[in-house]
Amino acid sequence: MNIALFGPPGAGKGTQAKELSNHYKIPHISTGDILRANVRDGTELGLKAKKYMDKGELVPDEVLIGLIRNRLTEPDCGQGYLLDGYPRTIPQADALSDILQDIKKPLDAVINIEVSDEELVKRLSGRRSCSCGESYHIMFNPPDKEGICDSCGAELYQRDDDREDVIRQRLAVYNEKTKPLIDYYDNAGLLVNVDGSGTVEAVFEDICRIMDQFK
Ligand code: AP5
Ligand code: MG
Ligand code: ZN
Repeated sequence: MNIALFGPPGAGKGTQAKELSNHYKIPHISTGDILRANVRDGTELGLKAKKYMDKGELVPDEVLIGLIRNRLTEPDCGQGYLLDGYPRTIPQADALSDILQDIKKPLDAVINIEVSDEELVKRLSGRRSCSCGESYHIMFNPPDKEGICDSCGAELYQRDDDREDVIRQRLAVYNEKTKPLIDYYDNAGLLVNVDGSGTVEAVFEDICRIMDQFK
């Protein structure tokens, strides 16, 4: 199953991808998580990416395209993949289709999770994240024990880019650079819209109904 989860910052891509990856046994590939791991480890890539991420800007296409090519050619993608946060621009989408053609794993669907701007700001400003990739919300999806990850026991933190001014910038960048991909994938016959405003469980069920068609 070859799927891209698409949607604005805070739509619930990471939350759903974690569950879907367990359910369908395909790797969750989050470019945001990969970049944050590099920032934490102080790699050359991390140092370069941090400048953009802290401002809510996109990291340059050539960096992302190299990163995603390497990741998609790893052996765990043999049975498919679940992309989260890639592609984010038209050049990234064009590069992706070349890569997928090379490795003979074309996309089955691009699942677009739709949520209103007002709800996105609420979700992002109350988010608490874990280095294991899990994310929580202080009101909508709290961990069993305050400040502690249910799945790995580590201490939760607030992402640097979840400050109100950076959230607004990320939404503006989404509208300008990423949203055009909705038409791009609609024209390619790959786009499927999902209402992301329901509970985590309700959205999960809707996405499963779509993904089950590609099992
Ligand atoms: P990235 O990490 O991808 O951030 P993003 O796209 O801004 O998306 P988020 O992770 O913020 O949102 P999400 O949809 O995963 O929501 P979540 O499930 O956590 O990218 C970060 C940065 O890296 C970018 O700004 C850029 O600089 C760089 N980057 C990454 N990829 C790039 C690329 N391809 N090109 C260039 N640069 C790139 O949920 C959010 C909150 O809502 C949580 O608190 C959650 O608990 C809660 N929630 C989730 N679902 C529900 C629900 N149904 N009801 C109520 N609450 C919910
Ligand atoms: Mg995410
Ligand atoms: Zn954790």
